[in-house]
Amino acid sequence: MYSFDIAAGSKAELYRDLLAALDALTAGEDDAIANMANAASLIWQYLPDLNWAGFYRNVGDELVLGPFQGKAACIRIPFGKGVCGAAAASGETQLIEDVHAFPGHIACDAASNAELVVPISHQGRLIGVLDLDSPSRGRFDAEDAAGCEALAALLAPRITG
Ligand code: SME
Repeated sequence: MYSFDIAAGSKAELYRDLLAALDALTAGEDDAIANMANAASLIWQYLPDLNWAGFYRNVGDELVLGPFQGKAACIRIPFGKGVCGAAAASGETQLIEDVHAFPGHIACDAASNAELVVPISHQGRLIGVLDLDSPSRGRFDAEDAAGCEALAALLAPRITG
């Protein structure tokens, strides 16, 4: 059993502790599925107010569903489609306060109202995206984006195999 010391204080503390926990969980392990699965679990357990947390992988320039927590989701997303496809195509984090105002948003779970998608790249290659959904409009802010980008950067070299 793993136990983590995750602060329930500020967002900065929460992401600092999540990063340390993710580092400890994935250090020395190079299996991509195992590391993405544990990352999705950690995020799901400690980030409040989510209805979906997980990964889409870049498989032949198409996003394919990876390890996640939440309801069963769309399996394949072309680059450029939806919020995830926009992150993959642009290489930039997508912070969406209201998914209903995002043209082409792909609704996998009707409960989703806000979304944060962070591209994950290693040595110039897009490996996939980290996707978080929330039922609360405006749930994600710049601190969440920065915190999740740090998680993605730590994970990137550990999810290539
Ligand atoms: N809403 C995403 C699709 C993936 S689900 O949220 C899990 C999108 O528009 O790309």
